[in-house]
Amino acid sequence: MSWWRNASIYQVYLRSFADGNGDGIGDIAGLRDRLQHIAGLGFDAIWLNPWYPSPLADGGYDVADYRDIEPVFGSLADAEKLIADAHELGIRIIIDLVPNHCSDQHPWFRDGLWDRFHIRDTEELPNDWKSRFGGPAWSRLADGRWYLHLYAAEQPDFNWENPVVHEEFEDILRFWLDRGVDGFRIDVADGLVKDFGKPDAEQPYSDQDGVHDIYRRWRQIVDSYDGDRILVGEMWLPDPERFARYLRPDEMHSAFNFDFLCCPWNAGELKRVVDSTLAAHEPVGAPPTWVLSNHDVTRHVTRYGREKTGFSFADRQHGAPTDFELGTRRARAAIMLTAALPGGVYVYQGEELGLWEVEDLPDELREDPVWHRSGFTDRGRDGCRVPLPWSAQDGPSWLPQPENWQDFSVAAQTDDPGSMLSLYRRVFELRRGIAGDLEWLDLGEDVLAFKRGGLTCVVNLSDEPIGLPSTPALSSVPLVDGKLPSDAAAWIS
Ligand code: GLC
Ligand code: CA
Repeated sequence: MSWWRNASIYQVYLRSFADGNGDGIGDIAGLRDRLQHIAGLGFDAIWLNPWYPSPLADGGYDVADYRDIEPVFGSLADAEKLIADAHELGIRIIIDLVPNHCSDQHPWFRDGLWDRFHIRDTEELPNDWKSRFGGPAWSRLADGRWYLHLYAAEQPDFNWENPVVHEEFEDILRFWLDRGVDGFRIDVADGLVKDFGKPDAEQPYSDQDGVHDIYRRWRQIVDSYDGDRILVGEMWLPDPERFARYLRPDEMHSAFNFDFLCCPWNAGELKRVVDSTLAAHEPVGAPPTWVLSNHDVTRHVTRYGREKTGFSFADRQHGAPTDFELGTRRARAAIMLTAALPGGVYVYQGEELGLWEVEDLPDELREDPVWHRSGFTDRGRDGCRVPLPWSAQDGPSWLPQPENWQDFSVAAQTDDPGSMLSLYRRVFELRRGIAGDLEWLDLGEDVLAFKRGGLTCVVNLSDEPIGLPSTPALSSVPLVDGKLPSDAAAWIS
């Protein structure tokens, strides 16, 4: 079976992973030093957020040069060494490709090659489209004309009606495939094709039928290389069937399951999402994936400790009361649920340490453009991007860590059998032995229970402890009088 069909993939937000040169910003050297952390957890691959030269107006999703490395992170030679080191450890490298937009510092934009962007010469705003970060999706060039940007004003959208843009990205794919990368995570994959005749309410910049041809072409390119290299899509789409169209056999290999990420901590709703995910993926033959957190959303320890446990961009519930003990307990159960499901799993750096959303960052340190573009109403995503604590010796970092993160550092957790880190190690070690289709079991209301081959996974979301059919090989918390307590999970083999 192809590796990506059941891969465990670790997401590295490079800027906040490990700092190799002591300037407070994570970098490739730091990641190379810490690869063992990821290998030791049993991951098959790393997905790296963008590492290209960038003014970092959107954490690197504003790319100024697609064929080089941001100097703050290292050099192209460092990137090649990282790929080699990772491969030696049996870890594949997936890089982030950003085809919807670039940086306003990209040479095409700086040199005024306007046919490669969406430019309009109108008095008023060309249409009512909104930026996903707030405000209008159009800003003015120096000459008064408008350019489209679905994200920050520093991120002009490419014009995919121009064949030059297609050629450029096909060449960029080859550039990195030639350097040994094992795949691409495609940013805003549903957004490249736009229907300018329609109003914002119809989201005519998302999921237009024409976008699929682009990925069919890319699939051919990726398939023309040896090794089992992949395309992974980022699409936030409301309809699971529309979503699965991107995963047809001649398009992408897999995509992030955001329905699962957004789902509240509720047995009925989780079961519904698992079922609809499996039902949507089955006809196209693609493996589902399961994701709890990433660099755009509130960390799930925090979400699960709140009254409203689901996630929505419309309301991050920044600062809502949070019971961290409860959130942590549920996060322990959640990773056992996630890792037992069929398909791929993504883990966002720091969730293996039980890190929470840092919501008390001083506002003047916030870098996420969402904060200012929302007119200072949405505090954005900096709180999930605070650098990881490695040990008590960590120096200061570009976003300050909460003081008690020392107690959550890798060094502090590594030998503690009750730590989140130890649980993740055990979960991803045992996960290797899990195979087979999912078969639901009925163990009562508010209990999620299923079999996969020789494994039974039980997650108790009810308020009462429940009896188990036999002694588990692993449980997220100790059993109480032989029973699985509330907000806990068990694996029985
Ligand atoms: C994706 C990225 C996000 C970025 C946006 C614009 O959603 O995950 O971090 O801001 O695209 O590139
Ligand atoms: Ca650094």
